[in-house]
Amino acid sequence: MPPPEPLASSARRPPPGRARELVARYRLELLWVAFVGANYAAMFAWPAWETIPFYLIWISLTLLYGLRVWPLGPTLIVVLAVMALTGIPITAHVMHGTQPVEKVIRVPLMAMLFGAVVWHARRRVEALRIAERRTAQLRSMLERQERFIHDASHELRTPVTIARGHLELAVEHSGSSFELDVALDELSRIDAIIGRLLLLASAGQPDFLQTEDVDVEGFLEDIFMRWSEVAPRAWRLGVLAPGRLHVDPDRLRAALDALLENAVKYSAEHDAIELRAAADGPDRIVIEVVDEGRGVRAEALERIFDRFARADAARTRADGGVGLGLAIVDAIAKRHGGRCTVTSNGHGSTFALALPGFTPAGVAQRLPELSSSST
Ligand SMILES: Nc1ncnc2c1ncn2[C@@H]1O[C@H](COP(=O)(O)OP(=O)(O)OP(=O)(O)O)[C@@H](O)[C@H]1O
Ligand SMILES: [Mg+2]
Repeated sequence: MPPPEPLASSARRPPPGRARELVARYRLELLWVAFVGANYAAMFAWPAWETIPFYLIWISLTLLYGLRVWPLGPTLIVVLAVMALTGIPITAHVMHGTQPVEKVIRVPLMAMLFGAVVWHARRRVEALRIAERRTAQLRSMLERQERFIHDASHELRTPVTIARGHLELAVEHSGSSFELDVALDELSRIDAIIGRLLLLASAGQPDFLQTEDVDVEGFLEDIFMRWSEVAPRAWRLGVLAPGRLHVDPDRLRAALDALLENAVKYSAEHDAIELRAAADGPDRIVIEVVDEGRGVRAEALERIFDRFARADAARTRADGGVGLGLAIVDAIAKRHGGRCTVTSNGHGSTFALALPGFTPAGVAQRLPELSSSST
């Protein structure tokens, strides 16, 4: 036997889940309707006190609108309804002579006041909408820019590799010459720039970090040993907070390499360079690279982490870099939820890499002062 047809009335009724959803969604409106109903009844019940429920109805409408900001159509309907609702008892009381005739003027006045609130609220909503649209545009522009950098760098890599292959063959056949050496040098530079650009462009990717726990002391000692053999400086391994750090070791190594490379590049022979790390709060660590090199001018400090930023515009090509090292450090720090800051006083600089995810092994130690510094 086929199942009985549902009754027409129950078929039109919203399913219980949907009804519950509607009640939850319009809970405030329903509460407001109940509040208005009670006040409306009070206007009739106590005509001498009608001013209080009258204002309560309009104030509650204003409060509700501040929270909801309905579209213009429904807002207009609600205002007209409230005007009629509050106008009827007042008019009735005026007609019975229990209230003076001027009382009726309160209705359009309250409607005008509410109109002003509507105007301000709509302006605010519109401003928010514009800000959201701009943020979305900016985000998409940034994404396109990253994609462009990535694609362009990727495309450049092949011709650079081919050109280098040909030059190396030329060196093999006819021996090295000044011109060939310069060309090979420049290609190496371009290759390094492409590598850094690709790394920067991938910093926004979700799989940029492959994190794991690393032993802070072992990790930093290893980096320090590698660098101390590279350049003749007064290398110092400072206090290293014992513990484990949850990071991407390859990315962190790249960041510290960039900082140590700068410390070497912008200091002279026998200048001091120190690597140290201390706990900062219960789960943060600050790794510092301190050098006693030339320092950074105060006016350059602010934009030093920008891409292609150079503190000294008059720097020669012999000085090396293109200004991507610190942008990479900054990106890596931020992706880890940390930040890199710099202080400098003209007799050296301190780059501090603050990172979360640190679990101290023992009592944390505070960093001792190597040199007085100012931001
Ligand atoms: N330890 C430092 N001492 C003095 N100046 C520094 C130091 N580190 C960075 N700077 C200044 O900040 C600028 C930006 O550094 P960044 O590492 O981003 O670029 P770069 O070293 O010029 O080039 P790249 O690292 O891409 O090879 C440098 O050009 C330099 O002027
Ligand atoms: Mg650099």
